[in-house]
Amino acid sequence: MRIIFRFGGIAMLVAAIVILAVLPFATSFVEQWSRRDVELRSRLVFNSVRDQVSGLLARNDAQKVSALFERIASDERVLAIGYCDGQELRFPSRNMPPSFSCAEAARSDSESFSIVRNQDHNVLVSSFPLNAGGRRGHLVVLHDLSYAEQRGGEARNYLFLALAGVAFGAAALAAMIAAIIMRRWLASIRQAVEHARSGNAQPAVEENIMPLGQEIRDVLHELEASRRTIDAAHTDWNPATLRAALSNELSGSEVIVVSNREPYIHNRTESGEIALQIPASGLVSALEPVVRACGGTWVAHGSGTADRETVDVNDRVPVPPSHPSYTLRRVWLTEEEQDGYYYGAANEGLWPLCHIAFVRPVFREADWQFYRSVNEKFAQAIVAEAKREDPIILVQDYHFALLPRMIRDRLPRATIVTFWHIPWPNAETFGICPWREEIIDGLLGSSILGFHTQAHCNNFMDAVDSYVESRIDREKDSVFFGGEETLIRPYPISIEWPPTALEGQKPVEECRRIVRERLGLSPDMRIGVGIERFDYTKGILDRMQAIDVLLTENPDWHGNFAFVQVAAPTRSKLQNYRILQEEAEALARDINQRHGGDGYEPIKLLIRHHEPDEVFELFRAADLCIVSSLHDGMNLVAKEFVAARDDEQGVLILSAFAGASRELSEALIVNPYNAHAMSEAINRALTMPQPEQRERMRLMRDQVKERNVYRWAGQMLLAASRLRKQQRIRRLIARGRKRAAANA
Ligand code: G6P
Repeated sequence: MRIIFRFGGIAMLVAAIVILAVLPFATSFVEQWSRRDVELRSRLVFNSVRDQVSGLLARNDAQKVSALFERIASDERVLAIGYCDGQELRFPSRNMPPSFSCAEAARSDSESFSIVRNQDHNVLVSSFPLNAGGRRGHLVVLHDLSYAEQRGGEARNYLFLALAGVAFGAAALAAMIAAIIMRRWLASIRQAVEHARSGNAQPAVEENIMPLGQEIRDVLHELEASRRTIDAAHTDWNPATLRAALSNELSGSEVIVVSNREPYIHNRTESGEIALQIPASGLVSALEPVVRACGGTWVAHGSGTADRETVDVNDRVPVPPSHPSYTLRRVWLTEEEQDGYYYGAANEGLWPLCHIAFVRPVFREADWQFYRSVNEKFAQAIVAEAKREDPIILVQDYHFALLPRMIRDRLPRATIVTFWHIPWPNAETFGICPWREEIIDGLLGSSILGFHTQAHCNNFMDAVDSYVESRIDREKDSVFFGGEETLIRPYPISIEWPPTALEGQKPVEECRRIVRERLGLSPDMRIGVGIERFDYTKGILDRMQAIDVLLTENPDWHGNFAFVQVAAPTRSKLQNYRILQEEAEALARDINQRHGGDGYEPIKLLIRHHEPDEVFELFRAADLCIVSSLHDGMNLVAKEFVAARDDEQGVLILSAFAGASRELSEALIVNPYNAHAMSEAINRALTMPQPEQRERMRLMRDQVKERNVYRWAGQMLLAASRLRKQQRIRRLIARGRKRAAANA
């Protein structure tokens, strides 16, 4: 409304200036015109009486001349009349102004007109040569011009009123037009903003309602982009902000997660009951809280012995079982499929290929056929689950390298975000894989491909560069392959904050006492812990060797330091894993024999699955934690140890070859291949003053708190939303071009 008044006001002001400029000209024009009229009248008077006056003057008939002059002067417009005989005024009529002088008025040989002032009025003096009786003279007629002035004034008033009326009308019309235009602009801008915010695939602006300038569109998108940058960088990420980001940026979107390992496994126990197990998987522990926050569907392999009994007819089960917030869709695999796809291609081929742990990868063609067909099976399950043609699909890990391309072929408008949870080796190492081109092609079906670190992103782009025909944009970190673009991005994975497993934990002193009691350790025994799956990439043997060196070189720790190694059996069908377990058991026995005695065992090897609560209790009871991976994408055990220590005590010893070492730089960073250096780090941890422990732990806790798993997921989802908006604009432009071509 204010803008309409402003607009009308400006129009009125402009009109007023125009009126003020025009009025004086109009007045003077009317005055001129009136004066000409008076001159004409004077001439008429002269012409009508010239001969008569000339005759009377020649006869010197003064009486008749005066009578005639008085009669003429009685005309309401004529003020006075007289005859200038040379310079002498004769027979002046009654109203002749006393100031009149023939010397000024009657000099010309032809008719002349002049204006003189008489008592505040202008008077027009018309002078006509008139010879009488051989004498040269002039007939002078005086007209009062005040009526001309009056006419000019009236004209000025009428003109002013007319112009003001027109100006007012024009201003009102302009304000109305402005109001209509503004309202339509506002409606179209609001529509554009709402479309942009909803992430809707509709055009940003209805072109036929009101064409929105390219600049406004650009500004809108810049605003959107900058807002998102700020959000991603500064948001205090938690389940609520993740949910808010999802509903703001991707409202109405459908999210489908796919991984091999399922978040909840139902197993039938020996006693015949159904037990729920949460698997030991970094992927699951990171992703589960995210899916709990976002909702949607998680598609995974149903691997539990009672899994089939707990699903509905569509192979779905609502989870978490205690308070369901999303759907788990189980996919069934035959034993043959599991052997070929999971144990063979994924865990004997790709796992050792990507982890540089010096275990030779095995590439069997038969395994690869199963890998391909199982990826197909999952693609079909995902398409069956998708309710929209453009879902957001979060593909997880090395079990599904071919899946992104298979989904892209079936759902071209899907946004596919793939995350590779393990390292990506350098191009030369990757080059030994017989399926390298197919793997790269499969992964490049993704819209976004994420790794934990920039180094892994670079390795992937080098592999693309080496083995397929593509265009790599190193500035943008993206790959153009087969006409499609895939963004390659680092997203360091993390854990939920605060961790659910911390809820209900006893105070640290209690945990220390309970754990020592349970393990048969003296109350003041210093404890180190290591907790993971029994995997050769974790450096379990290497850390035991370091403990051996420690006890050899520092006999003081005999009887005072014990190391608790919790190892969950994993992939036990594979020989390498069985051998590792045997070797670890043998090494623990050997160390215990050499350094133990009198009930003292320096190494406690606990080979069984521990639930998150037990793991956290152990973390809280320990003086130090060792994460000595030979190679690891991230390693979430390191972050969980930090999260468990709300007392800000305890030391983390962390391998330089785990992605986590990039973020947790206040840990004691070690080379797990160097047993001596690692033993020194253990010694240093055991003797580290409490204030130093506190300072290091505080910094690490801040880091994990801020860079939690909601941030990891939030950044990926915001990137997906940005991509969807950009794609929508591209589709709009393409549609515009098509329309223009059709109209041409
Ligand atoms: C790693 C992988 C995950 C996997 C986990 C457990 O963290 O990146 O994909 O789930 O190990 O392994 P498993 O074979 O038991 O699923």
